[in-house]
Formats: sequence, structure tokens, C-alpha cells
Amino acid sequence: MRYTFMRRVRRGGTVATLCATTFALTGCGRTGTESNLSQTALDASMRFADYDGGTVPGGPGAGQGYAIGSTATAEAIATLNTDIGPGGAELPSGSGTVATGRAVYAAKCALCHGANGEGMAPAFPRLSGRDPNAEGFKFASDPKLPHTIGNYWSHATTLFDYIRRAMPHATPGSLTNDEVYALTAHLLAVDDVIPDDATLDATALRAVKMPYADRFVPDDRRPTAKK
Ligand code: HEC
Repeated sequence: MRYTFMRRVRRGGTVATLCATTFALTGCGRTGTESNLSQTALDASMRFADYDGGTVPGGPGAGQGYAIGSTATAEAIATLNTDIGPGGAELPSGSGTVATGRAVYAAKCALCHGANGEGMAPAFPRLSGRDPNAEGFKFASDPKLPHTIGNYWSHATTLFDYIRRAMPHATPGSLTNDEVYALTAHLLAVDDVIPDDATLDATALRAVKMPYADRFVPDDRRPTAKK
């Protein structure tokens, strides 16, 4: 599924690029005539983004741009702007217990990740079941050691973020915040990060320290980033 998605994105990029390239010569606009386009489109001082839909100046369609896409509304942005950083400041209200999470996991996650989070190679990653041989973060010397949430996940807050935005794989965004808290609690309890009777909400989740958190460093290579 991942690959289909990437291909689609890439194909979208190709279409856009082709359009941008041919446009400079022939125009990608809706109603343009060739003579007009060659006149305007070859004006080297004009940026592609400024070009007005390939129309006769003042004619039909003028001022309407490319008629592609629409302005993003504040609501549309809000539905996508759900990132939760490692510090967890953005965590929503709601809560969930390990017991509830166990039930939600069985209903919505086990089909791909296995009843005990053991995963299904090669497509569905292992989530749980810390192998004693893999303790000590020895992945650099043996990359085949099984990675699980308990032995290879840097922050509990970003586990919540990932599940909420990406899972279940076929219907991301379908879980309630309570369900995501419960699932996060269940997955952390299975890997002995929190007790089996724990309840997680924003405050409790922010307080969880992952066993190998210290083995990760922030990777912020933007030149303008504050040090
Ligand atoms: C249809 C199959 C499917 C279902 C159902 C599903 N997942 Fe996944 N899950 C995947 C796949 C595939 C990946 C790997 C995605 C990737 O690497 O891009 C993944 C990755 C993950 C990861 C990241 C693992 C890691 O360490 O990289 C977590 C956590 C996770 N899933 C949790 C869940 C939870 C919780 C549920 C239930 C709400 C769930 N998944 C349901 C297929 C599924």
C-alpha cells in the first residue's frame, strides 16, 4: 500500500512538472489560443506562478489562474495540523486504560500486527514482545535484532501521534482520541513500559519515559534552527 501511495505522489509530481515545462511553450491553460500563449508565455520576465491561465488578456477565464485546486480553509488545515511533538504539548483531551486498549487492539490491529504484536513479515511490522537478546540497544551491531516499541521507540508522545495519524493502515484518522490513548497504553504495557493497570491522558503520557530515550538525539539540521 505504501508503494502505491508513493507512486501516485510521484506520478502527480511528474504530471505537474510536465505541465510546467510544456506550458512555457504551448500553455497548459484551459481556454488559451496558441498565438496568445506564445506571446505571453515566452515573456521571460514572467514567473510560471504569475501566469494567468493561458487566456487572452481580458478575455474569458482571465484572472482565474489555472483553475487548479482551491484556497485551503482554516478548517481544512486544522484537520491536518495534528502533529504532536516529543514534548507532547499538543496532546488532546481524553484518556484510555490498558484494558480498553487491549480490546481495541484485538478488534482493529491484531489482524495485521498479530494477536501479541508479533507482526507478520514482511509487510506488517512487529510492535511488541521485547526480546531479552535485544536489550541494551545493540541494533548497530546487529540490525536483525527485533525492534519493538519498548526497545526502540524514542517517545511515548510520538507513539500516540503515529497511531492517530497513520493507523489502522487502511482507515487512518478513524480512531477517537480515547481509543488512541487506550491503544498507546496497551502497547506500552505489553512492553513493560507502564503497569497493566495504567490509565493514560495527556499529563500521564507526557510523563512516560521510554526505556531507551537517551539513545536518540534530535536531528534538526535546518540551518536556521535554534541551537
Ligand atoms: C491493514 C493492516 C494494518 C492494520 C489493521 C494496522 N496496522 Fe499498524 N502498520 C501496518 C503497516 C503496513 C505498518 C508499517 C507502515 C510503514 O512503515 O509505513 C504499520 C506500522 C505500525 C506502527 C509503527 C511500527 C514501527 O515501529 O515502525 C505502529 C505503532 C502501528 N502500526 C500500530 C497500529 C495500531 C495501534 C493499529 C490498530 C489501531 C494498527 N497498527 C493497525 C499495517 C496495519
